[in-house]
Amino acid sequence: FFRSVASPPSSNFLLLGPSGAGKTAFTALLEVKSTPASKKSQTTHTSQTSTLITVTLPPSVPTGSNRYRSINDPSLKEATRNPIRYRLKDTPGHGKLRQTQGIAELISMSSSKDLKTKIRGLLFMVDTAALVDEATLRDTASYLHDVLLVLQQRALGKGKSSTKRDAEIPVLIAGNKQDLFTALPAEEEEVLGDDDGKGVFSFKLLEQVGIKVDVVGGAVKGDAEEEIGSGVRRWEEWIGMCL
Ligand code: GTP
Ligand code: MG
Repeated sequence: FFRSVASPPSSNFLLLGPSGAGKTAFTALLEVKSTPASKKSQTTHTSQTSTLITVTLPPSVPTGSNRYRSINDPSLKEATRNPIRYRLKDTPGHGKLRQTQGIAELISMSSSKDLKTKIRGLLFMVDTAALVDEATLRDTASYLHDVLLVLQQRALGKGKSSTKRDAEIPVLIAGNKQDLFTALPAEEEEVLGDDDGKGVFSFKLLEQVGIKVDVVGGAVKGDAEEEIGSGVRRWEEWIGMCL
């Protein structure tokens, strides 16, 4: 009698970003990929509350602790037998819900000492096709500013109290909807990051306080010709490197 014992998920990732970016679509896709039997409906609507799901990292995705895993590597077999799982929290991106949900979640998870709730990485999803619209761009940039300011203050504050025990939280800016022809190229630092006259923060300043920001494009939808979900592969690889 054989029973596979999946190890409990030990890492939490938080998913932020403006309304309509595709956060819930991404979450639903990961859920389907994790449990192929469950044909969950992938129609989404504007989220009102946060949801926490458990995701299985595909065995072929390398992890940070095992980054040279190759197809012939025996550890790949091990990963297939004992898959790595993590938790992902999807949050509502609507402007009125950000402070009380997304930002509040970030503050609580980033100050948590409890492994069950502590944050391992932060994903900020943007709709790259919508950034041509000035209002959307401004809204997206302002949310991202708020988020990165929380991390920057956390990093600076920690320096003072000289408790360097916690690693900085890595940030992935996931440029979604690269399938659409209006989508901007994934390298969005110029558009989103640099001082917009306020001089509040820049990606460079974040690096100085030890916060790593990666910008990686992808698509939750629109990759029908390829294997399902291949448009999110590079985000899964980023998650894997955090594990
Ligand atoms: P809130 O819950 O309001 O914060 O939005 P959200 O970020 O959860 O967005 P949601 O997942 O509901 O997606 C919004 C719309 O974008 C849906 O109609 C999705 O089907 C669509 N969408 C998501 N990803 C992609 C993509 O990669 N390409 C295209 N073309 N559409 C996408
Ligand atoms: Mg949603």
